[in-house]
Amino acid sequence: MARILVLHGPNLNLLGIREPEHYGTLRLSEIDQQITDLARKEGVTVEIFQSNSEGALVDQIQQALGQFDALVINPAAYTHTSIAIRDAILSVGIPTVEVHLSNIHSREAFRKTSLIADVVIGQVSGFGPQSYLLGFLGIIEYLRKPVHLQKGKRKGK
Ligand code: DQA
Repeated sequence: MARILVLHGPNLNLLGIREPEHYGTLRLSEIDQQITDLARKEGVTVEIFQSNSEGALVDQIQQALGQFDALVINPAAYTHTSIAIRDAILSVGIPTVEVHLSNIHSREAFRKTSLIADVVIGQVSGFGPQSYLLGFLGIIEYLRKPVHLQKGKRKGK
């Protein structure tokens, strides 16, 4: 059974009250419940972790080695700043999907740059909470592919 770790970055614990015009009105706990329901339906195991601190997210990525088959991460503001999270993803080599509630390409210029976009399998951005579910399904499909096809997808530098 595939094991997937979902990571939420800073300020996502405030979903529901935080800038609803960008992030909607669902709370993080409600999104987590949807992810957990989807995991059960798809027959995979999931763990979910949120932190406001960059180091804690790096620790989780490192500790995922040997424990998880894939990562789904919304690094939130660290998307645009964190070489440490990028390096951690590259270091463990675990297939990762990047998700964002809002479309980061249609907002302020500084949000258009993701420091992890070129080291992940793919990015889902702009579908609200559905971004997590689409990313989750995407990585499950990826894991179901033959190994040689999986490797062909990696773009790590
Ligand atoms: C976000 C987009 C980021 O630019 C922002 O800093 C966030 C949330 C999103 O899910 O749309 O905190 O990652």
